[in-house]
Amino acid sequence: MILRCIECGKEYDPTEVRYRCECGGLLEVLVDLDKVENVFDGKNITLWKYESFIPVEKRVSLNEGGTPIYRLENLQTELGMKELYVKNEGANPTGSFKDRGMTVGVSKALELGMDKVICASTGNTSASLAAYAAKSSIKAYVLVPSGKIALGKLAQAIVYGAKVVPIRGNFDDALRVVVEASKELGVYMLNSINPFRLEGQKTIAFEIFDQLGFVPDKVILPVGNAGNISAIWKGFKELYEAGFINKLPQMIGIQAEGASPLAKAWKERRDFKSLKKPETVATAIRIGNPANWPKAWRAVEESGGVLESVTDEEILKAQKMLASKEGIFVEPASASSLAGLMKLRNETEEDESVVLITTGHGLKDPNIILEGFELPEPIEPSLEAFKEVL
Ligand code: F0G
Repeated sequence: MILRCIECGKEYDPTEVRYRCECGGLLEVLVDLDKVENVFDGKNITLWKYESFIPVEKRVSLNEGGTPIYRLENLQTELGMKELYVKNEGANPTGSFKDRGMTVGVSKALELGMDKVICASTGNTSASLAAYAAKSSIKAYVLVPSGKIALGKLAQAIVYGAKVVPIRGNFDDALRVVVEASKELGVYMLNSINPFRLEGQKTIAFEIFDQLGFVPDKVILPVGNAGNISAIWKGFKELYEAGFINKLPQMIGIQAEGASPLAKAWKERRDFKSLKKPETVATAIRIGNPANWPKAWRAVEESGGVLESVTDEEILKAQKMLASKEGIFVEPASASSLAGLMKLRNETEEDESVVLITTGHGLKDPNIILEGFELPEPIEPSLEAFKEVL
């Protein structure tokens, strides 16, 4: 195993604490694919089933992964499709896919002998880091955009015992401070520019293949800091290079319109420019300067995919559809995968198989539902009164 810069190819020793190349490029972990095991038999699925692909020795685990994949029987009929699935990452221990990154990332922190960890977060990363730090008895610091983090996520970070620091600014501002703090204060940084985070998250690809028994034509997911789409693509490529699969899916990344610098650049075929004031109801992906954009861009390009954006209205409509037609309650950011599919429906063939990734649990952000719903006046506790409101 080695760390390599995706821009200049310079290699680094993975026992060194390093997040970027000297040239500024992002790093990736190269795993020895001669040593990986073909364990894809559809049984006993958990993240650590794929341990031969995961480049850490230590293991801090809360039993992450093994999330359900559902066939969306109602929605696929409604949308005129044959095979539509959701992989529901809200079923992870802290309610989001971030747990996959943190089980590996915090394990790496311990291997490196670090006793403090830090991240910037729109909410889920902070909740997850806080939980895995608690399990490891190390200190977690989390910087979050003041007033722009969903209630449930904030409660999680607090109860797991992290030092929660709200900042006057957005996620991008918080990440800047965190990068500086990790250098100056010797705290291990666990945002998704840390390549070990992505080594955990790539297991979403392994599970999709393991659960379905085939590789879908398209994988659609929300894009914020652009780590997850890069990680899932890396997972599929490793399966391909190991000779376990013989096709690759198209990777389709969805951003919220008010925070869509990547989707805009993609559509206009121009260079990516960061956005100073991102805004969206999907606070998890309220990000104007996605740090992993070069990896994400390559994932979409290599896979023949696309980057698209959806409005807040489309996101909330999709959130309601998933809950009321399929019984799956996801947070707004996660619903952007379905919103994206509906927007791109004309570009999808009827018989294509599509997997939507829903990234976080709906209960993390209950306010967004209650704000749009007026509870009726209470009734008298009698059958007559009940019959009147039926
Ligand atoms: N969906 C949810 C629910 C998220 O929390 C995030 C990112 C994403 C999608 C986007 O993933 O950044 O890998 O492109 N949340 C981060 C956080 C930024 O701090 O919790 P990405």
